Amino acid sequence: MKGRNQTLLSEFLLLGLPIQPEYEHLFYALFLAMYITTILGNMLIIVLIQLDPNLHTPMYSLLSNLSFSDLYFSSVTMPKLVKNMQSQVPSIPYAGCLTQMYFFLLFGDLESFLLVAMAYDRYVAICFPLHYTSIMSPKLCVCLVVLSWVLTMFHALLHTLLMADCLFFQNSVIPHFFCDMSALLKLACSDTSINELVIFVTGGIILVIPFLLIIVSYARIVSSIFKGPSAQSIHKTFSTCGSHLSVVSLFYGTVIGLYLCPSANNSTVKETVMAMMYTVVTPMLNPFIYSLRNRELKGALGRVLCKKKISF
Ligand SMILES: *[C@@H]1O[C@H](CO)[C@@H](O)[C@H](O)[C@H]1NC(C)=O
Repeated sequence: MKGRNQTLLSEFLLLGLPIQPEYEHLFYALFLAMYITTILGNMLIIVLIQLDPNLHTPMYSLLSNLSFSDLYFSSVTMPKLVKNMQSQVPSIPYAGCLTQMYFFLLFGDLESFLLVAMAYDRYVAICFPLHYTSIMSPKLCVCLVVLSWVLTMFHALLHTLLMADCLFFQNSVIPHFFCDMSALLKLACSDTSINELVIFVTGGIILVIPFLLIIVSYARIVSSIFKGPSAQSIHKTFSTCGSHLSVVSLFYGTVIGLYLCPSANNSTVKETVMAMMYTVVTPMLNPFIYSLRNRELKGALGRVLCKKKISF
């Protein structure tokens, strides 16, 4: 019976965003611009960090990995969203939907782990400046990145395999702009209690623990700078940590709100807007937030541009 149902289902319809037709063009242009900004901003960071030997340190290595992950994270959903806004029948094949879900989870989790690694890096740098180079060695950095990849691949695969086991009706309409796990589960016509349990348990491990670790690192940073010497350093650390914490909260707040505390009275519009925040807005903001106040990155940009000018 399962086999028959699965062969029946060939595609889903992605409803997309609840936008009134007269604003369709406006939003199309807006999303296209946001996507291009995300790609360019993150690529600039990766290229700068690769080109400038001064930036070959654990902190920038992690930042470059975060940009890499942001680049792919937004590329999983945005091109399809923009394309579907223009098409009459916004469908997605069943296999495409599961693939999208896999990569969405992969890069979303990767982002979550990398944010923790970066918070830990800042924590060590500010609280143990003398031991920083021995604690945050390139070896540890590679270990953190590899561990993040392994965990995230396993987690994404687990959810995708569980989802592949669910049965769906033909031409199910997904009231979302991408193949979101929780939106898909609501459509499943088979029992999804195991899926929900797994989401809850692994979500707790993959999201809540990293979020708490980040909060603890920044809390330690803040408490340590009060012992520090000058008011200026306090101001600087506050503004840096504040901007980091605001994107981190935006990311984890919306993800945790959507997956771990789903409430029945959440309207589709509200859920879509929340999903927009972490799929579109945070990958776009990350490169700016993590590099705007960064003198070294600006210096690197200057050096790279000058070198180019000389070589022309
Ligand atoms: C990610 O981090 C690892 C370990 O530090 C580094 O070797 C690698 O080049 C980074 N990848 C990117 C895309 O920056």
